[in-house]
Parts: sequence; C-alpha cells; structure tokens
Amino acid sequence: MEIKGYIVALIMAMTMMELASLTLATSRRSMLTNGIGLTPPMGWNSWNHFGCDVDEKMVKETADALVSTGLSKLGYVYVNIDDCWAEIARDDKGNIMPKNSTFPSGIKALADYVHSKGLKLGIYGDAGYYTCSKTMPGSLGFEEQDAKTFASWGIDYLKYDNCHHDGSKPIERYPVMTKALKKVGRPIFFSLCEWGEMHPAEWGFHVGNSWRTTCDITDTWESMISRADQNELYAQYARPGGWNDPDMLEIGNGGMTKDEYIVHFNLWAISKAPLLLGCDIRNMTQETIEIISNKEVIAVNQDSYGIQARKARMHGDEEIWVAPLSSYRTAVVILNRGSVRYSVTAFWEDMGLDPNTVVEARDLWEHKTLKNRFVGNITTMLNPHSCKMYVLKPVS
Ligand SMILES: *[C@@H]1O[C@H](CO)[C@@H](O)[C@H](O)[C@H]1NC(C)=O
Ligand SMILES: *[C@@H]1O[C@H](CO)[C@@H](O)[C@H](O)[C@H]1NC(C)=O
Ligand SMILES: *[C@@H]1O[C@H](CO)[C@@H](O)[C@H](O)[C@H]1NC(C)=O
Repeated sequence: MEIKGYIVALIMAMTMMELASLTLATSRRSMLTNGIGLTPPMGWNSWNHFGCDVDEKMVKETADALVSTGLSKLGYVYVNIDDCWAEIARDDKGNIMPKNSTFPSGIKALADYVHSKGLKLGIYGDAGYYTCSKTMPGSLGFEEQDAKTFASWGIDYLKYDNCHHDGSKPIERYPVMTKALKKVGRPIFFSLCEWGEMHPAEWGFHVGNSWRTTCDITDTWESMISRADQNELYAQYARPGGWNDPDMLEIGNGGMTKDEYIVHFNLWAISKAPLLLGCDIRNMTQETIEIISNKEVIAVNQDSYGIQARKARMHGDEEIWVAPLSSYRTAVVILNRGSVRYSVTAFWEDMGLDPNTVVEARDLWEHKTLKNRFVGNITTMLNPHSCKMYVLKPVS
C-alpha cells in the first residue's frame, strides 16, 4: 500500500523525462552503499556560530546541551566539528593530528564521550592540500590513511570541503575518498561540499550521502532564500541515501526575524535538506528552541518517501512549495517573500492534486487541524517574509 502510494507520489512529482533519468540513475549502484542517510541527517555543526574557534570543551558542552534540551530525542544526533581541529603538520608517519592546544584529549576520546551520550561525532576534511582555513592539512593524497584514522577514532560523519586543491575536477577527487571510506568497515555519512561547482546533484548519489548545491550561507534573509532557490532546481535528484544540501541552519544566530527563521526551517524541512543546527546550543533563546523543536515540521523532513519539495507556483512574491508525503498526504509551504501583507491561495491543480479532492489541513505551527475542510484551494493571509506550512490529507 505504502509502496503504491510512493509510486503515485513520485509520478505526480515528476515529468516523464525526469522519471526516466531517475530510473537510469537508480539502476546504477551507488559506489557508497553504506546504508545510511535514508532520511536527511540531523544534528549540529560548529562553523556557522564558532568558525575556527572550536575546542573539545565546547564540543562536549554542545553534546550535553543537545541531550539536556531534548533536541537529541527529536533526532538531532550528529555533533559535527568543522574546520580548524587539526595541527597544520602531519606526524612523521603522515597521520593527521588533532590540535594539541584545543583537542588535548584527542578525537577518539571525544568520540567516546559523544557516543556515551547516544550521539554521533562528525569531522571535517578537504579534498585538497589544505582545508579552507589553511590551518590544517587536507586529505588529497592521504585519502586511505585519513579514512582509516577517522574510522579508528569512531567518526560517523565526514564533511569534505573543496579548498586548495590541485585544479582537478571534484568529480575526480571526491570518489577517491568514497572508495577509501568504503574500505574502513564503518558506515560514515559522507557529505560532499564542493559548493555546487559542478552540479554535484547529477553525480553525488554515487559518491556521497549529501552534496552542497550552493556557496556558504550567511545569516541574512537574502542569503537564506537564495540558497533555498538554487537548491530547489535540483529537487529531482534527492532521495533516500542522497540529499541536496543548501548549507547549514542559521536559526538562533540573530540575523533574521522570528518569521524569517520559521521560513528558513520550513523550507529546509520540506526540501529534505540536512537539518544541521548552526547556533550555540548551550545558549539558545526560548524562541530558537521553539522553532527547531517543531516535531511536525521535523516529521515532514524525515518522511520515509524522501521527496524534495518543488515550487508548484511562483507569482510575484507569492510561492507555493509542495512535496508529496507518505500515506497520501501532501506538505505545502505557502510563502510571502515580499514586504507587504498578502492573501495567498494555493490551488490543488498547481500541487498535482485532483481539483475535487476534499482535504483536511493540519497547520504545523498552530499545531491544529483546521475545522474547515478544503476543496480546490486553500487561502491564507501572510505577513511580509513569512509563510504557513500545512499537511493536507484527503478525507474519503
Ligand atoms: C601537548 O601540550 C602539552 C601542554 O601544552 C604538552 O605537555 C604535550 O607535550 C603536548 N603534546 C604533544 C603531542 O605535542
Ligand atoms: C548568550 O546569548 C545571548 C543572546 O541571546 C548573548 O547576548 C550572550 O552573550 C550569550 N552568552 C554566551 C555566554 O555566549
Ligand atoms: C477556493 O475554493 C472555494 C470552494 O472550495 C471557492 O468557493 C473559492 O472561490 C476558491 N477560491 C479561489 C480564489 O479560487
């Protein structure tokens, strides 16, 4: 029953040409086949808030805070250290070395700590000679050795950046690490970060579990919304095991309004993007916790079908983002990108629903099912830079 619904939803979501290309793609085996990333990864990454200012104490405190705030129970389990965790020089055997001044206990001890909390540890590397900060070595030429080191430490996630390389193409450099990871006997989520340089959506599924489709996000409305836009162009390529990645979340870092952060969270969730928090988990406002803890929105992101939302209609500042969900449901974000208040209508025809279908609508931010039933359309009033998110469910 679910499988049949999935096929129907897929066909609804795609043109015939796209369906043909997907069939072709899935008939080739992923090089990775590590069996992870069947839903988008959730957790935290140090970069957006801390940049290079990372150390083991902060990472441990973040792990503690993910548990004490209840976020880990909601699925936020990856604790990912970004750039700047290693010494600039390898040891005399060529091993990458944790930075003594900031990670004196080493990464293995940190992984053990994080694992003891029921969480997973992620780390950062680069498909070049140096990472982007230029404060630590990249893995180019050391892929097998570094993959073994990461596995021996108990690493669960590798973000792999694209700085200071030899000029060869990402599609040539990244699979070397894929093969190295395959050999280490530990499933490690492989996050490709070549910034969308070479349309990684077109080849990423065979190389990693997610691929960045954009340059780095900053904590502004324009940066956030433009990354959502760029990422949407590749919607057809997302599926369980391989996700488009419009970069990490900025919620809680202070650069956007509450409504804008809710738009950020909704668009990432419906786009089946990784939900990697980028704020200081040890010091969040009630507002931040409220946004990132919305279980119903998280459930849309983690839906078993893994179908990324597409824009069903763009009309001036009004947009309708739609994704089929399991159990014949449909997720929709109705968005006002403009600077004045609007009434916006989402039409069934645009969303691939039969115009006569009667649905009940669940408002994922009011946490209630609306009393009215809807047929043909649903209309809502929206403040500037705000949206509504509904799950529509046919009633028979
Ligand atoms: C790390 O730093 C400590 C104190 O700063 C020092 O005693 C130790 O020798 C250093 N270890 C390495 C491997 O450099
Ligand atoms: C905690 O966050 C507030 C803003 O929400 C900030 O003013 C304060 O400096 C932060 N405290 C620490 C210790 O980072
Ligand atoms: C929306 O649907 C209702 C019937 O369910 C209809 O009366 C109304 O005209 C529709 N609104 C628009 C803007 O088409």
